[in-house]
Amino acid sequence: MGLAIVSSRAHLGMDAPEVAVEVNIAGGLPGMSIVGLPEAAVRESKDRVKAALQNCGFDFPAVKITVSLAPADLPKAGGRFDLPIALGILAATRQLPGKSIARAEFIGELSLDGRLRPVHGALSAAVAAGASGRQLLLPRGNLAEAALVADADLLGAEHLLEICAHLSGADRISPPPTQPPAYSSSPLTIEDLSEVRGQAAARRALEISASGGHDLLLIGPPGTGKSMLARRLVGLLPPLPDAQALEVALVSAAASGLFDVGCWGQRPFRHPHHSASAAALTGGGRVPRPGEVSLAHRGVLLLDELPEFARNVLESLRQPLEDRQVTVARVAARTTFPADFQLVATMNPCPCGYRGDSVAACRCTPDAVDRYRSRISGPLLDRLDLHVEVPRPPPGRLLRVTAGESSNDVAARVAAARQVQLDRGWVNARLPGARLLETCRPRRDGLRLLERAATRFGLSARACHRVLRVARTIADMDGAVTLDQSHVSEALSLRQIDRR
Ligand SMILES: Nc1ncnc2c1ncn2[C@@H]1O[C@H](COP(=O)(O)OP(=O)(O)OP(=O)(O)O)[C@@H](O)[C@H]1O
Ligand SMILES: [Mg+2]
Ligand SMILES: [Zn+2]
Repeated sequence: MGLAIVSSRAHLGMDAPEVAVEVNIAGGLPGMSIVGLPEAAVRESKDRVKAALQNCGFDFPAVKITVSLAPADLPKAGGRFDLPIALGILAATRQLPGKSIARAEFIGELSLDGRLRPVHGALSAAVAAGASGRQLLLPRGNLAEAALVADADLLGAEHLLEICAHLSGADRISPPPTQPPAYSSSPLTIEDLSEVRGQAAARRALEISASGGHDLLLIGPPGTGKSMLARRLVGLLPPLPDAQALEVALVSAAASGLFDVGCWGQRPFRHPHHSASAAALTGGGRVPRPGEVSLAHRGVLLLDELPEFARNVLESLRQPLEDRQVTVARVAARTTFPADFQLVATMNPCPCGYRGDSVAACRCTPDAVDRYRSRISGPLLDRLDLHVEVPRPPPGRLLRVTAGESSNDVAARVAAARQVQLDRGWVNARLPGARLLETCRPRRDGLRLLERAATRFGLSARACHRVLRVARTIADMDGAVTLDQSHVSEALSLRQIDRR
């Protein structure tokens, strides 16, 4: 009697794999069945589609309707297939010209009166449709989000009848106006660096960290401004270029289904509580969802009070720190999420917090201090380029120091230092080992100092490479071409834990 095939897309992590919605009309007992791993919301499509078609004045034939969502092994969720199913029925029953649906893709949930409701995953569907060169028709409520994809050919509609009129040629939908997405001024910059008083050394470390993308650990007694400083790192970083802004938007949409267009171009700032589970950090869920490490992609992940995180949680960070991506494998599907974030962490020097403090006395046993520090030893510590002490200033001193530089002033210098690096191809923290010496260009006095320090403090080769990368950043902030002793010496002074 009739067969129609409509193109649509599923939503899986950051991807939108193609789904062929096949509708077959045959003689037999009247009824409709949907096959191809549909979840509950997709199975309920039957009732929504039937009501919508009838309420729009179409004929819902009393025949056997089989809807197949292919490939069958792909999990399918949500009401996004309502629209392609409805169009498939109309085409299979010759209420719409079959040719009209061939060149486009469709997603959209139907309400019972035929209006189109926005769906999750419109952004990834727009990316995928753009790459396939096909037009995507979707609910108007999804249009702003999908329009962030520059090369997508999109049409938005409010109602099933609008789409039908467009497809039959009776009344074409006009394409949305093209305008580049607006960059939002980040609400994160409300926390300004000028609020942090004193702590010149830690502020300098924060600027080096921002300039070269170096991971940073702040160590000090309670109440000295560690958390304050750490929270202000993201406000020093330059805005994201479009391609990276899209990656960030796709990860965010993989977590919540939708992307808030008001956040376009903002670097993410994630600060999970220390009670967070390993799955919350690295991702999980029956349908894979990104964890904090991926939600912080291209932005900052703050682990405040680092030793308070459970050991297995810190362990779970090793792989994403190494690979800069995480693969979440679940029964339903496996997906890879990016996880290229900048890490900033804070800790006290000992369990009571006052070890080495000028005012309060530490009450911890050496054993307790060792246990506390060993929680973050090894690979995690190795990854942190900068370890900096944030000591307590002399009493009353804070009240007397004047406000420091604002985030904007520092961010302008950071942007300049980063530009030098981008012209070379990498931000210094990501400089490949093979390019290290030719890029860092240490002079003989710089190298000699590094060798002496390596012997004295027993630095590993990896730690030496980190020192060189940090020294390169300090030289870039200076506008220097080669690394001299002063750059290396400052970089060495920013690895306090190695010296203990
Ligand atoms: N350098 C500073 N400049 C301005 N205010 C500060 C400074 N240090 C601390 N404060 C004040 O103390 C409060 C606590 O600071 P913060 O939370 O950053 O301390 P912390 O070092 O993270 O301490 P803890 O180890 O207990 O987490 C801040 O909210 C701020 O009001
Ligand atoms: Mg704190
Ligand atoms: Zn102590």
